[in-house]
Amino acid sequence: TSILVLNGPNLNLLGTRQPEIYGSTTLADIEAMCHDTAKTLGVLVTFEQNNVEGAMVDLIHAARGTQDGIILNAGAYTHTSVALMDAVSSVEIPTIELHLSNIHAREEFRHTSYIAKVALGVICGFGAHGYVLALEAMAQHLKAKK
Ligand code: DQA
Repeated sequence: TSILVLNGPNLNLLGTRQPEIYGSTTLADIEAMCHDTAKTLGVLVTFEQNNVEGAMVDLIHAARGTQDGIILNAGAYTHTSVALMDAVSSVEIPTIELHLSNIHAREEFRHTSYIAKVALGVICGFGAHGYVLALEAMAQHLKAKK
């Protein structure tokens, strides 16, 4: 079982980026957490980050045939990108939308998500631990599907 964890724009700056909102955990810390969790769950994790919308579309396309699930923190593209929504629909790989912050408790423009319309489910507001929760939920979903 292989799961792609795909992170979008500005998430490479985690640790120093608005720590009052996003915490002080770096993306490298989160990557290590994901690999630890994967080991416990008996799954394989591929961890990616990209600031470019089209590059994220390409990564989602490349997941077809190689990945069983996608955990997607699309950052600000969550609220704007029909292209990412279409990419997720196109590859037909179960996708969990993830955010560190509770987007519903923040600015109005963060309350809408294109990804949520095509996602299996959404996890937000639990900081870096959300990645662990999302991997657990995806592993459970994929096991139940078999
Ligand atoms: C985010 C929430 C988005 O609204 C924001 O643009 C981000 C990070 C989160 O993980 O909380 O870049 O996806």
